[in-house]
Amino acid sequence: MDWSKLAFGYIKTNKIICSWYKDGEWSPLSAEGDDRITISALSGALHYGIEAFEGLKAFRGVDGKVRLFRPDENAKRLKRSADFLGIASPGIEMFVEACKRAVIENIDFLPPYESRASMYLRPFLIGVEPQIDLVSSKEVLFAVAAIPVGAFSGKNLTPARMLLARDHDRAAPMGTGSYKIGGNYAASMLAGTKAKKEGFASILYLDSAERKYVDEFSSSNFFAVKGNSYITPDSPSVLPSITNKSLIQLAEDFGMKVEKRKIPVEELTEFDEVGACGTAVVITPVWEIVDKSSGVSYLTGDKDNPGNISKNLYRKLTGIQYGEEPDDHNWCMEI
Ligand SMILES: Cc1ncc(COP(=O)(O)O)c(C=O)c1O
Repeated sequence: MDWSKLAFGYIKTNKIICSWYKDGEWSPLSAEGDDRITISALSGALHYGIEAFEGLKAFRGVDGKVRLFRPDENAKRLKRSADFLGIASPGIEMFVEACKRAVIENIDFLPPYESRASMYLRPFLIGVEPQIDLVSSKEVLFAVAAIPVGAFSGKNLTPARMLLARDHDRAAPMGTGSYKIGGNYAASMLAGTKAKKEGFASILYLDSAERKYVDEFSSSNFFAVKGNSYITPDSPSVLPSITNKSLIQLAEDFGMKVEKRKIPVEELTEFDEVGACGTAVVITPVWEIVDKSSGVSYLTGDKDNPGNISKNLYRKLTGIQYGEEPDDHNWCMEI
């Protein structure tokens, strides 16, 4: 396989790990060679979006060891989403076991260290019971798929241009924004497609109650650097990003002040650095955020050079993931 050509897209790998929940019990984990499953066309997942998912990565380290990054955090977040949907979820131990198994069964798809690529794990829960009544599913499939993904920016972070959402909201106040459930992503599809066509890397959403404060990007959290502060939104409708949680800790380790607070849109002009953070790319530096409704363009960084703090945070976090830096917070789980 040419690891340098990998992007972020579906590739058929060896096995998908599955467990079915029925009559109050999970079946033993099984590794299936076919990732097509047979479920009723009337399954709750297909009609009412009874679906929750996660995303995490496995890395081949500089020392040859294979590491999962904070899988326990993903297990907890999946449970939170499942509780919101009213469906069963696996315990942390079963979740981690399934992730490890997904890596092992697909080990020949785990990119080598030198490629700076990694293996993306997609654990998910879907309600599989046939139904027409609007109730939560009692029967659930838990599965973990493993797909090799590209290095994106490799060691060089490439600054991106984002579109400020002015005619679209991602999450309602007191709605589903903080849960990792399929419906949130369906709701942002049209706006995302339009933004991509216009050449934007992603969309920056505002709080939908007042549209005054920064919330997050379509599939990543927002952070900014001002002086010695790492600033990230305090909002009930953003996904609690595990990458952001880790960057907050690293920023504190660097001696920075962390501010979790409301970020008025006008403040975008005042930051030294702005970034999008998430599992897929770790950090995407943002050099411009365009508000087409007012014609204002917020210049939030250098088009060609990522900011120093973003670079240092990126190096430190990926260094931990690839076993190059000491894992002081015990984030990695070796397989
Ligand atoms: C809406 C949204 N926000 C933030 C993130 C980043 O979260 P994490 O760092 O846990 O991948 C993601 C990606 O999973 C996402 O979909």
